[in-house]
Amino acid sequence: MDLGIAGRKAIVCASSRGLGRGCALALAQAGCEVVVNGRDKARLEATAAEIGAATGAKVTAVVADVATADGQAALFAACPEPDILVNNNGGPPFRDFRELNRQQMIDGVVGNMIVAIELVQKAIDPMMRRRFGRIVNITSGSVKMPLAGLDLSSGARAGLTAFLAGVARSVAAANVTINGLLPGTFDTDRLRSNMEMTAKRRGISVEAARAERIATVPAKRFGEAEEFGQACAFLCSAQAGYITGQNLLIDGGVFPGTL
Ligand SMILES: NC(=O)c1ccc[n+]([C@@H]2O[C@H](COP(=O)([O-])OP(=O)(O)OC[C@H]3O[C@@H](n4cnc5c(N)ncnc54)[C@H](OP(=O)(O)O)[C@@H]3O)[C@@H](O)[C@H]2O)c1
Repeated sequence: MDLGIAGRKAIVCASSRGLGRGCALALAQAGCEVVVNGRDKARLEATAAEIGAATGAKVTAVVADVATADGQAALFAACPEPDILVNNNGGPPFRDFRELNRQQMIDGVVGNMIVAIELVQKAIDPMMRRRFGRIVNITSGSVKMPLAGLDLSSGARAGLTAFLAGVARSVAAANVTINGLLPGTFDTDRLRSNMEMTAKRRGISVEAARAERIATVPAKRFGEAEEFGQACAFLCSAQAGYITGQNLLIDGGVFPGTL
């Protein structure tokens, strides 16, 4: 399917690995020029080279911490007026909520809520002027179905979701859409480190921890970053202009609700 976005410019935050990388790859496959981002220079440059070689797209690597003002400035220096913005960032580690101090809570809310809002503020007016914009926020299935130990992540992302729900309606007439993608369990480095921690805590092997988790997924497998990226690219497509303010779970059927 031609997504109608060849030549569009995209910033994909936190995209040297995992879900962000999947989104950057899919947008490059659709013909977009893509800015990829991460803090580890070697890893990021390898990703940019791989995506460029696989797709022929122009891929620019911006080594930066997306949570900082300097990092955000570097992203927008590389791509001053993106047509597409994919918001992503690392998530806070597992922690019992009783152990969180005030600074850790503030950092969590900044990382998984405020950073995305700041980037939307920077991107949105030029998008509205050009009457094309696609913003996708990678949040988490935990916005709909909480996970003990990830309360800070869930709370910050739920805050982002509610904040942007109103913003999405205010920009829709300019053909600017804002949607959320809610991953369940995807086979990324983050999931692998979570599995290692679970195995250690419970005194079982990593393989056993993975098998237990997979058993809870109706699809009986973990998701792949590439398929997540394809859903992102569709939300960024010309055809998806009437989809806005939505939050799409991609979780292999884990969330049990009908709506
Ligand atoms: N995987 C899942 O099943 C799942 C489920 C629910 C929610 N999520 C959420 O989805 C997001 C992506 O998860 P993932 O599994 O793809 O994680 P991942 O495999 O750990 O990859 C994270 C990516 O973000 C980059 N990054 C992290 N912090 C950054 C920062 N401050 N500035 C710039 N880049 C940064 C990392 O590169 P550097 O380390 O080099 O900076 C890396 O490219 C996370 O917020 C995660 O909590 C994931």
